[in-house]
Amino acid sequence: STAWPLDRHGRPMHDLRISVMDRCNFRCPYCMPESTYGEHFTFLRNDERLNFDEIERLCRLAATLGVSKLRLTGGEPLLRPQLAELVTRLRRLDGITDLAMTTNGVLLARHARELREAGLDRITVSLDTLDPALFHRMSGGRGALDDVMAGIEAAREAGFPHGVKLNTVVQRDVNEHTVTDLVERFRGTGIVVRFIEYMDVGNHNAWRADDVVPSQVLIERIHARWPLQAIPPKYPGEVATRYRFVDGAGEIGMISSISQPFCGGCSRARLSSEGRLYTCLFATGGTDLRGLLRDGASDETIVDCLREVWLRRSDRYSEERAERHGRRKHKIEMHYIGG
Ligand code: GTP
Ligand code: 5AD
Ligand code: SF4
Ligand code: SF4
Repeated sequence: STAWPLDRHGRPMHDLRISVMDRCNFRCPYCMPESTYGEHFTFLRNDERLNFDEIERLCRLAATLGVSKLRLTGGEPLLRPQLAELVTRLRRLDGITDLAMTTNGVLLARHARELREAGLDRITVSLDTLDPALFHRMSGGRGALDDVMAGIEAAREAGFPHGVKLNTVVQRDVNEHTVTDLVERFRGTGIVVRFIEYMDVGNHNAWRADDVVPSQVLIERIHARWPLQAIPPKYPGEVATRYRFVDGAGEIGMISSISQPFCGGCSRARLSSEGRLYTCLFATGGTDLRGLLRDGASDETIVDCLREVWLRRSDRYSEERAERHGRRKHKIEMHYIGG
C-alpha cells in the first residue's frame, strides 16, 4: 500500500467503473438517441467484450494499486448474461470494500435477489420522472415506469447492505417540474434520490448550457417545502453533495458537475466493455488493455501499464468546461463507458 500511484494532480485511484455491456434496452435522448442508435448501429460483438476472467483479473490487479470500490455499469449491465456470476467473483477479491451497480431498473425485479445473494453491496437505479408518459418518452419510447418501480421495490426488499439510490438527470423544460414529486415519493423510504445536472457527455445529445438546471435552484425549491440541511461528504471526493431533511425523513444528493465541478477529488477510472481504460468521463482516448490480456501479458506488465496510465493522468474536464466545450471532438459515449 506504500506504492499506490497518484496522478499529476495528486489524486489516488479509488474507484473502477466497469462497463459490462455497451448495449441498452432504452434510448434516452440525452444518452443514446434513436437517430444515432437505430437498428443499423453496430454494437460490440460478444467476443469483443471482455469475458469474466478478464474483468476479474483486471479488478484484482487494480486493487493492488489502491482501488477499493467497483461499480458495474453499461449501457445496461443487466443485459449481460450471468451477471451475478461476475458479482460472485468480484466479491471475493481482496481489497474490494464496495461493490455497486448502476442500472435502468427494467430487468431488476427479475435479478435483485440473485445479485444480493451473489454479494452486491448496493444498487443505483436511474429514474428521471414519476410521470408515466414522460418516463416513456425519456426512455426513447422503450421503458415502462411500472417495471422500474417494481425493480426498485425488489431491490429494497432484497436488502442491499449499502442501500439503494436513485439517479435523476434533470433537464430544463423536460422533467424539471417533476423533481418535487420524486422527493415526495421517496422521502422517508430510506432510498436516496440524487439529482444530476444534465451534462455535455458524448457527441450526440446536442447539449446546451441553457438546458441545465443548477442544483442550487432545485435545493431552494425543495427546501421551501421540506427544510434541508447540508451534511458533510461520506468519503473524500464524493460525487454528490448531501442534504438531510430537517424532519428526519432521510437525505437527498446533488451531482453538480456543471455548476460546481468536483474534478479535484476525482479518483475514478473507467473500463469500457471492450477493455479500454479511460481516466475521465469526457476523455477522447483510452488505453487498450484487452490486447495485453489476450497477448498473454504477465500480471506485472498489466499492473505497470495501469500505474503508468494513472501517473500520467491530468484530466479535469468539468473544471475546464467553459474553455473546452465545443472544442473537444469525439468524446467517448456514456453508453460505452457507463457514466
Ligand atoms: P456513490 O458511490 O453512491 O457516491 O456513487 P457515484 O456517485 O460514484 O456513482 P454514480 O454512478 O451513482 O454517479 C452518478 C452520476 O454522477 C453518474 O451517472 C454521472 O452522471 C455522474 N458522475 C459520476 N462520476 C462522475 C465523474 O467522475 N465526473 C462527472 N463529471 N460526473 C460523474
Ligand atoms: N448528463 C447527466 N447524466 C447522464 N446520464 C446519462 N447521460 C447523462 C447526461 N448527459 C446518467 C444516467 C444514469 C447514469 C448512468 O448517467 O441517467 O443515471
Ligand atoms: Fe438511458 Fe442509461 Fe441506457 Fe443511456 S445507458 S440509454 S442513460 S438507460
Ligand atoms: Fe473526473 Fe473527468 Fe468527471 Fe472531472 S470531468 S470529475 S476529471 S471524470
